[in-house]
Amino acid sequence: MIQLTLTTTIGFLHNSWMNYVMTMEYPSCSTDSQWMEHAFTLAERGRGAVEPNPVVGAVVLDAENRCVGEGWHARFGGPHAEVHALAAAGERARGGTLFVTLEPCCHFGKTPPCTEAILAAGVRRVVVALHDPFPKVAGGGIACLRAAGVAVEVGLGEATAQVQNAPYRKLLRDGRPWVLAKWAMSWDGKIATRTGDSRWISSPESRALVHELRGRVDAIIVGRGTVHRDDPLLTARPAGPRVATRVIVTASGLLPEQCQLRKTAREYPTMIVTTAPHLDHLSGWQADGAEIVPMRTDDTGIAIAALLDELGQRRMTRVLLEGGSQLLGSFWDTNCVDEAWIFVAPRLIGGPAPTPVAGRGVERLTQAIRFENVQTQTIGADVWIRGIRSSLPPEQQQ
Ligand SMILES: NC(=O)c1ccc[n+]([C@@H]2O[C@H](COP(=O)([O-])OP(=O)(O)OC[C@H]3O[C@@H](n4cnc5c(N)ncnc54)[C@H](OP(=O)(O)O)[C@@H]3O)[C@@H](O)[C@H]2O)c1
Repeated sequence: MIQLTLTTTIGFLHNSWMNYVMTMEYPSCSTDSQWMEHAFTLAERGRGAVEPNPVVGAVVLDAENRCVGEGWHARFGGPHAEVHALAAAGERARGGTLFVTLEPCCHFGKTPPCTEAILAAGVRRVVVALHDPFPKVAGGGIACLRAAGVAVEVGLGEATAQVQNAPYRKLLRDGRPWVLAKWAMSWDGKIATRTGDSRWISSPESRALVHELRGRVDAIIVGRGTVHRDDPLLTARPAGPRVATRVIVTASGLLPEQCQLRKTAREYPTMIVTTAPHLDHLSGWQADGAEIVPMRTDDTGIAIAALLDELGQRRMTRVLLEGGSQLLGSFWDTNCVDEAWIFVAPRLIGGPAPTPVAGRGVERLTQAIRFENVQTQTIGADVWIRGIRSSLPPEQQQ
């Protein structure tokens, strides 16, 4: 099975992109799997620029199986990956093969149907990793190509494609964004000292990676406690392809009068999610540019499900949950986290200091949340651990 490299949002991609721009050389691969893997790598270049569209990569081989074109969906509303790749290949695509990570579209959306471009290019064979669940496509692209006599193979690298476009698929299926929870902790599992000091636990390299991530998500969510303790700015520095809305969750509406988030609320979108009775507390924030969104509550505070429905209605595809531990606890307790990024720093804090996830937790180990696609990597002095929450019932998890 092709392994999805979830490291896609980090610097090496930037480097490979620069190499590509400088040389415009295509790789040489010997198997279909390798070509599809290359298409997955290309697709990642659109992460943060195309949402709520999917990330898609495409590779065109000529009749002698030499790469003659490649492309990716680079911006929302722009040409799709196949169109870029076929344009690069030109006449050399005739009689060749197209590898594409998601089913080509067959409808007029913001751009004409990709199936038309594929048929016009004279491609003989199309290899597709995954059906597109988008209702106006949903198998129609594959059927259209087959009806025109093109050999279409579906499913090469399907598991990778499912993970790669999991946020897109979740928004379509559930109307909610993909939630990525991130925290930095010491070797003894603390996210701050007992006095609340948390700057900085992780290395500069880890923090740079988080800034890279911030520039590719739709929202960055924190609880009131983190605003009070850390006075964060919650921006991507340097900026990425997307400007995240900074979301503060507070049922009481008791936010500081002076803080970085408020000072910059006109420069960066800032949303405060609160309860109707406490809207008055926030009139100053509103005057300074923040959007105040009333939300229903449950026994934990703001109802997390209602918050995610609201963000989904705004067509947010991927959001970053940055803490603190109470808010993370509520998200985990309600099964509302999809992916975790954890930076484990070689420090020992000790004492009654906060741990990453508070909330209710579980009573039995068999109920503990498990992860799939787990990857670890050294970054600076830290260990970076990533995983996707297992969707299997506990008895089927390993
Ligand atoms: N190391 C790291 O990666 C990292 C990252 C972030 C934060 N931190 C640390 O975490 C600490 C802050 O964490 P914290 O647990 O005290 O605060 P928090 O989780 O940031 O905020 C908790 C507050 O959020 C509000 N809230 C509203 N709805 C909620 C819900 N459904 N569930 C939970 N909270 C809800 C509540 O305020 P209302 O009463 O207004 O409703 C609650 O008091 C700081 O020391 C900070 O330095 C560390």
